[in-house]
Amino acid sequence: MAPSTTSQSLLALISLLPLTSWAFDCKDVAASGVHFNFGKLGGPHMVHWEELDEMHEMKYKYNFTVDICNKLKWHKGGSLATECHHGARICAIRETIDTSETNNSTITPIDIAGTYSTSVGRPIDAQFELLRDSKSNSDAGREGIRAELHGGRFPFDDNKNGVDQRAIIEFVCDKERDGLGGGETDDGEREPDDARDEDGDEGEKEGSRLRRRDGEGKGKCEDSDHDLRFCGYELEQPKKGKKVQTLRLEWRTQFACEDAPRDEGTHWGFFTWFIIVLFLATAAYLIFGSWLNYNRYGARGWDLLPHGDTIRDIPYVLKDWGRRVVNSLQGPGSRGGYSAV
Ligand SMILES: *[C@@H]1O[C@H](CO)[C@@H](O)[C@H](O)[C@H]1NC(C)=O
Ligand SMILES: *[C@@H]1O[C@H](CO)[C@@H](O)[C@H](O)[C@H]1NC(C)=O
Ligand SMILES: *[C@@H]1O[C@H](CO)[C@@H](O)[C@H](O)[C@H]1NC(C)=O
Repeated sequence: MAPSTTSQSLLALISLLPLTSWAFDCKDVAASGVHFNFGKLGGPHMVHWEELDEMHEMKYKYNFTVDICNKLKWHKGGSLATECHHGARICAIRETIDTSETNNSTITPIDIAGTYSTSVGRPIDAQFELLRDSKSNSDAGREGIRAELHGGRFPFDDNKNGVDQRAIIEFVCDKERDGLGGGETDDGEREPDDARDEDGDEGEKEGSRLRRRDGEGKGKCEDSDHDLRFCGYELEQPKKGKKVQTLRLEWRTQFACEDAPRDEGTHWGFFTWFIIVLFLATAAYLIFGSWLNYNRYGARGWDLLPHGDTIRDIPYVLKDWGRRVVNSLQGPGSRGGYSAV
């Protein structure tokens, strides 16, 4: 088999590996050979959502906290009554308000995705797909990557009847945004002196965040200028398997842009590697050949070199090699390529 074919299949194999992984490195997220570094988006980020269930006179307020790089830390004095399980990377805190009588409210944490110790949870099973590789029409012309993260369940300990959770985050290229703007970070120990608490954020924007239960506006994201936006939290039926409660987020950031043709990098890497091996092989051949000629035939001067007269033609030989290399890279197999060398 030609070496190029072997290396190419090796490269293909390696690029497939990160596609399905048990955990993932936010600094090297890859799909179809395109790599992204989301390290700067690390740390907890929060989005809010309010849902009305008029029939049951209930109101749900959700705080979704996301840290794509690390496990979420508990707040001071937290417990499982108000926090997700250890290992969560995406956690929902739901406040259920009974609007029928007393506005009685209860807090419920919902684990959405994370790397939980294997005895209790499912794997995070992070999957990535380039938006331009997606079959969906709405992704046409969008640059970025879609991440699907698993691991959560609600109720978490109910293996049988618990509803599996997942998060689908679309990192969309936006050169104007660093991905940290507008949103709310949650550093695990909330500071009471946050400026945004004073600017009427709460009252002013609650209205636009309000959504009805009937799923109107499905597939659209909240009307907000925040870099990280809420796009839905609904029970979805995947192609196979049981229904999954799916949190959808959109993250507009420059880190999702495919700057520089990095895909070429692998080809150049291979090409360079090939030239180096070729050079070393040639050098080894000449040195060993000279040594043989010297010892066996007592050759001197040009006669030392194997095919001494040919060496004088080296510029032409190199030119020919270059042509062969280019040919074999362009059309492997057409003429046996360089495997004949
Ligand atoms: C959700 O977040 C807001 C703002 O950070 C906070 O005031 C509120 O208490 C949080 N709600 C819950 C249920 O944690
Ligand atoms: C419940 O809260 C709403 C708005 O927050 C208020 O209008 C209503 O009077 C409250 N009801 C009771 C029984 O406290
Ligand atoms: C509030 O709700 C909880 C459970 O949902 C219930 O145990 C509690 O009695 C309620 N409190 C009031 C004041 O209605």
